[in-house]
Order: sequence, then structure tokens, then C-alpha cells
Amino acid sequence: MLASDYQELRRIIYDRSGITLGDNKQQMLSCRLARRLRELGFSSEREYIQFLVSSEGEQEVEAMLEAVTTNVTSFFRESAHFDHLREQLESITGKGRNRVRIWCAAASTGQEPYTLAIVIDELMRALNRKLDARILSTDLSTEVLAQAYEATYQEKDLAPIPQQIRARQFEPVVSNGEKLFRVVERTRSLVTLARLNLAKPPFPMKGPFDAVFCRNVMIYFDDAVRGRLLEEIHRLLGSDGLLYVGHSEGLTGWDHKFERLAPSVYRKIT
Ligand SMILES: C[S@@+](CC[C@H](N)C(=O)[O-])C[C@H]1O[C@@H](n2cnc3c(N)ncnc32)[C@H](O)[C@@H]1O
Repeated sequence: MLASDYQELRRIIYDRSGITLGDNKQQMLSCRLARRLRELGFSSEREYIQFLVSSEGEQEVEAMLEAVTTNVTSFFRESAHFDHLREQLESITGKGRNRVRIWCAAASTGQEPYTLAIVIDELMRALNRKLDARILSTDLSTEVLAQAYEATYQEKDLAPIPQQIRARQFEPVVSNGEKLFRVVERTRSLVTLARLNLAKPPFPMKGPFDAVFCRNVMIYFDDAVRGRLLEEIHRLLGSDGLLYVGHSEGLTGWDHKFERLAPSVYRKIT
């Protein structure tokens, strides 16, 4: 790929998703786009770019972003966060509160929001009490959102989930002859899925949220995009609301707005 083509693709990706590709990602981008070029019958990146920026290229930008983004996720990923959240929810609901609102900001294929839903469903079971709980789950990619909507996973994906919880939270289904596991309806119904571009605030939600999970996505953003996103998260969190970020993401420079409670767990300062 020519350096000038790489610069242009980088700019399009940044404008549309806020994702910053470093100077060393040229090879990676070239490999990931090679299939798209073949499928569409383009013989060079230049031709592909011309199509992307044309009026017919709008949908292809979406497809390109699908090829560029990383969707790696898992149930109970960075599991200490879910123990922390559960303790917080026990405390809130112990004071008589019934309403719980959580925003899962980069939900990918659903393992993260359904982990949150499982934590809440298991809490309701332990308390023997129904909570007014909702988990808003958003992502830029319609492809991963469609998978999240199915809520159907392979047995190996369920490995981090204790056996007893699996039995309560998943039901076996057969799809194309393959045995899969679907999150039970009771738990699925706590989750609402929607497309949202984190790089394009302001967001339509009003909040207030008790907790925001925005994990393993800010690493792809530069300071400007990250800053606008954190302002928006701060606005949408209720007082004392919690922000969970990925273990490799810190909130350096945001001490005036967020107080650190535990590794990669922050509380809004009002
Ligand atoms: C590595 S996954 C993280 C999934 C999950 N939060 C976790 O920690 O397991 C990153 C997700 O961020 C999404 N993403 C990337 N850029 C985004 C943007 N501008 N707005 C919303 N989601 C975005 C990707 O589609 C992908 O699903």
C-alpha cells in the first residue's frame, strides 16, 4: 500500500470511528482490507479509496470499519470488575433503591452486557427481590450487535462461568446442527442493544446511569476523542456513578472528575 493511500484510509477511519491507527499499522490494514478489495474486484487501494469516498461508498465505509475493529471479548472478562459491581449493587439496593441503570458502551458480541445481566439476575435471585434493572448496550458495529442480539454462544465461550450459574442462565439450542447455548430470556430481557458511535458525542441518552462499562475501546482513541467521550460519560453518570475501564486503560489527567476506587474502577466526582 502506498504511504499516501494509508494516510487517506487512516483519515477516513478516524473521521468515522475515532479510531487512531499508528504509523506501524499499515501492514495490518493492508492485510485486513485485502479480502474486501478482492470481493469487490478492485485491483489497488487507490481504486478502493475512490469508491469509499464516492456517494455509493457509504455502506462500504461501514464494512471497512468492521474489518478494522477488534471485537475480542469474553464472559466475565477482567472479572474483578463484576465482583466490585455486585458489591456496589448490594449496597445501593440494600438502602431500598430498586432502580439500576447500567451502560455498556462497547458491547461487542454481547458477552460483556450479558455478564452484567447475569450478575444482576443472580443478585435478584439472592435477594429474592425483583429490581427495575436495565442495561443499555451499544457498539459502533451492526455486525457485532446482530450477534449480541442472538445471544447464542459456543460451549467453550462459557468456560469462565461457574457450572451452577451456566445451568440457570443458558439454555441449549441447536443451530445448523451445532449445539450452542443461548442466554435465557429472563436475563436477555434486561439488555437493550443499540448502535452508537462513541466518537460522536453528544449522545441521545439522558441517564443517569449508576455505572458505565467502557472497557477496551478507549485504547483505540486519541486524547481528543477520549476526552470528549469522558466528558459525556461524566455527564451521563449519576452522582457517585461508577466508571469501569479496561485494565490497560487509565484515566490519567481526569482526577478532578473521577476518583480512583480500585484498579480501573472510578467514581464520578460531582
Ligand atoms: C475489543 S472490543 C471490547 C469489547 C468489550 N468492551 C470488552 O472489554 O470485552 C472493542 C469494541 O469497541 C467497538 N468500537 C470501536 N470503535 C467504536 C466507536 N467509535 N463507537 C462504539 N464502539 C466502538 C468495536 O466495534 C468493538 O466491538
